[in-house]
Amino acid sequence: MTTEKILITGALGQIGTELTNRLVEIHGAENVVASGLDRWQKNLTSAAYYERMDVSNTQLVRQVIKDYEITTVYHLASLLSGTSEKQPLFAWKLNIEPLLNFCEMAREGLISKIFWPSSIAVFGKGIPKENVGQDVVLNPTTVYGISKMAGEKWCEYYFDKHGVDVRSIRYPGLISWKTPAGGGTTDYAVEIFYEAIEEKKYKSYITENTAMPMLYMDDAIEATLQLMAAPKEKLTVHTSYNLGGMTFTPKELAAEIKKEIPEFEISYEADFRQKIAESWPASIDDSIAKKDWDLNYTFDISEMTKDMLKNLRIKLKK
Ligand code: SER
Repeated sequence: MTTEKILITGALGQIGTELTNRLVEIHGAENVVASGLDRWQKNLTSAAYYERMDVSNTQLVRQVIKDYEITTVYHLASLLSGTSEKQPLFAWKLNIEPLLNFCEMAREGLISKIFWPSSIAVFGKGIPKENVGQDVVLNPTTVYGISKMAGEKWCEYYFDKHGVDVRSIRYPGLISWKTPAGGGTTDYAVEIFYEAIEEKKYKSYITENTAMPMLYMDDAIEATLQLMAAPKEKLTVHTSYNLGGMTFTPKELAAEIKKEIPEFEISYEADFRQKIAESWPASIDDSIAKKDWDLNYTFDISEMTKDMLKNLRIKLKK
């Protein structure tokens, strides 16, 4: 039987909905507490408990941890890259302070393990675009990237100084059909599928030849679970692990969609997110994750496209 009692923040978000349901499958609904800012939505989470809470409310979060005797936290609540540019100070507060609160609780022995997502947004100027390694200089140019870079350093600090078991992945753009993404730069690669089915056309705010690393949600969830299940002594990265997934441009993704929906057309009109995309790598070297905890992927661009269209057609009743 499981001895873990899990709290997930951001449980109704793009990652949270899917991760919560997988954690329920593994640990049982009684051992999973979902939480978020919004009202509980029965169709979104199979966890036995839901706490509607603002993760910035440190006292309330601490109480929830105590009340449910939580051992493990998946702290997903965050403001993504696009939205963070519009609310920089709020983004900094939300993306950093609750993480520190959880690290403090782990230091005190209240919880034993934390997962916290970082992002390819930590990368920036002065590095090659392709096959970006784990230890390159981090030079983010966005509010989101700065907050993730600082968060990574805090994770490493709490591990080095206090032995806190906090684990992290630099997620690339995440593609999924269950819950829409919100406020990210890579979100075009999700929106495009909705529009392809509903309208047979899509206007991309990222230009045609801008490549970014992407990952299908199924692979992202499995990677997260693998990292969390790995023996602590096997982990060599205590900031955040690089994850590559696949790499494609809007033009390449449109060509894949056209194979399934021949009448689909894409057009391009860059907005402020183009500059963010240009500051990020095109592809990532994730060989350390592969070595440390057996990372592997199931979906390439064509399998992902087929699976997205199949599931979205069912969801949208098209
Ligand atoms: N998907 C995120 C974003 O675009 C990157 O981590 O903000």
